[in-house]
Amino acid sequence: MEFFLDTANIVEIRNAKKQGLLDGVTTNPTLLSREGGDWRQQAKLICEEVTGPVSLEVMGETAEEMIAEAGDLASFGDNVVIKVPLTSEGLVATKALYKKGMKTNVTLVFSPLQALLAAKAGATYVSPFVGRLDGISHDGMELISQIRTIFDNYEFPTKILVASIRNPLHVLDSALIGADVATIPYKVISELAKHPLTDQGLASFKADWDSLTK
Ligand code: G3P
Repeated sequence: MEFFLDTANIVEIRNAKKQGLLDGVTTNPTLLSREGGDWRQQAKLICEEVTGPVSLEVMGETAEEMIAEAGDLASFGDNVVIKVPLTSEGLVATKALYKKGMKTNVTLVFSPLQALLAAKAGATYVSPFVGRLDGISHDGMELISQIRTIFDNYEFPTKILVASIRNPLHVLDSALIGADVATIPYKVISELAKHPLTDQGLASFKADWDSLTK
């Protein structure tokens, strides 16, 4: 399973890269707005820093607007993936971008049928939001499982990119279900290596070694 970082923060991106945990990045308007400044400059900087795919989201409402924006965003780098909302217009844009050979990430997916529509439109990735579903007492991971089954049934090449991840358990469940990618906030990615028994074990090895050698 690939690890993308769900951020527009360059320090977080550089840290994850240093740890070898950066297969790609997903941004969205909220994440870019948190960084402030010139969003175009920030997005270009991210595209330069990251070797893998970088999702940049269109904000137009019509397919025509989205396709025009996609052309602009694609000029930011060869690794740009156009993030398109799961709306009827977004699906038209996804199909058109597919025909042009452009990669897309269809976002704001909350049902298995939405994911099926995105795959039929030729999406490169679909982004189901597990944390937001959990937040309204729906089972986010059940959605991932259903999409996995549908995509496997028909051998769709569209990758399942688990988004809106809130905790390490979401990452574990994504891997067990066989999702292709998890896009993870920096706070959660930092927690993945931690285990209290690792810390305890290390402390006792150190104490025993000190008693032997000092
Ligand atoms: O980038 C898409 C998704 O991961 C956003 O997550 O935390 O705003 O629900 P969140």
